[in-house]
Amino acid sequence: MAKIALGVASSISIYKACEILRGFQKEGHDVQVIETRNAAALIPPALFDALSGRRTIVELFDDRQPWSVAHVALAKEIALFVVAPATANILAKFACGLADDFLSTFYLAVRTPVLIAPAMNEAMWIHPQTQDNVRRLRERGVEFVEPAGGYLACGDEGQGRLADPQRIIARGLDLLCRGTGLRGKKVLVTAGPTREAMDPVRYLSNRSSGKMGFEVAREALRRGADVVLIAGPVAIAPPSGLEVVPVTSAAEMKEAVDKHFSGADVTVMAAAVADFMFRAPAVRKVKKETLPAGLEIVRTPDILKELGGRKRPGQILVGFAAETNAVEAAARKKLREKNLDLIVANDVSREGTGFEADVNQAVLIDRRGKSRKTDILSKRALAAVIWDAVEGLREKKK
Ligand SMILES: Cc1cc2nc3c(=O)[nH]c(=O)nc-3n(C[C@H](O)[C@H](O)[C@H](O)COP(=O)(O)O)c2cc1C
Repeated sequence: MAKIALGVASSISIYKACEILRGFQKEGHDVQVIETRNAAALIPPALFDALSGRRTIVELFDDRQPWSVAHVALAKEIALFVVAPATANILAKFACGLADDFLSTFYLAVRTPVLIAPAMNEAMWIHPQTQDNVRRLRERGVEFVEPAGGYLACGDEGQGRLADPQRIIARGLDLLCRGTGLRGKKVLVTAGPTREAMDPVRYLSNRSSGKMGFEVAREALRRGADVVLIAGPVAIAPPSGLEVVPVTSAAEMKEAVDKHFSGADVTVMAAAVADFMFRAPAVRKVKKETLPAGLEIVRTPDILKELGGRKRPGQILVGFAAETNAVEAAARKKLREKNLDLIVANDVSREGTGFEADVNQAVLIDRRGKSRKTDILSKRALAAVIWDAVEGLREKKK
């Protein structure tokens, strides 16, 4: 049995929150309802009190609550935070980090998975501001069950109806069962490219966007791990709730990895560390008129191989292989040579997947040589497949 916080905002579809509450209870979970003040004007807390068997929380400063700082205390107790229905207003508040009532303050304190089911008039839903808020929340790792199309309470037709409560319950349960496998485990993830300076303005790098590594970190967080994310220079926002160590060069990445590796139960090296660097980067900008005759390029340190050489028993090391031909053979070689437990190989020569894309297709090969090719998946879904495989390996190691 898990404890779930159910946030309820003042949408006309608020009555469906009762079905969602009952659905989680039927699966044996304990539900604490949090209403916004406006929601409490539509359905008074007494109804949710009776259904949940718990006093519904509305006010931030409520001396009837047994906890001293209730939003923080409750945030530590729950395994899942569901907001259904979510208004345009609450999405905007979450996206900006506004914390002027219990529900929005609670959102900032929560470190468990967050699932939001918005409901509103279609014009409000498709408004660029609302869509921007949803995008920002997704980037932070929030999961959504999107509103459905059809007849809206305001009389309009369009997208904006709260998704079917059964779908919301099913997604919540799915997040819950993924939610605990890594609890208490320390996970180290590297992501993004590195930049190797030629001079103070130019560098050598690669096309890695960091999206895959960020999704791997986000999924580990969702499963309860304490996550350190070492990120090269990327244009995307990191998920909240983890420690981010920003680095630029391969040497900096190595230093950061060395610092965190020994304490990690699982290390996933998803960064595309530049293979080459300039032996002696110029201290001043090299003038284009004076192109140096020989810019000497040398290998960067092989971080993954070094880790493979010194990992302790029970520690799991996962590598990535981005290849353009004979992908699987190259990945098997890398798995062996670098003493990895799992390698995730993908063909980066294919259009539309891999670097920069939101989707990826990979072959996962584990240390016993067992391989599995995935379909074309979102990077978020692929991250879940990777963690399922890692958890399978951990169980066998016990
Ligand atoms: C009867 C009624 C129904 C409403 N339904 C919705 C809705 O479905 N979605 C929405 O985003 N706002 C809806 N609103 C507007 C919100 O209640 C309003 O933006 C409010 O400030 C949101 O407060 P809250 O997010 O703190 O609950 C509705 C308002 C009324 C009066």
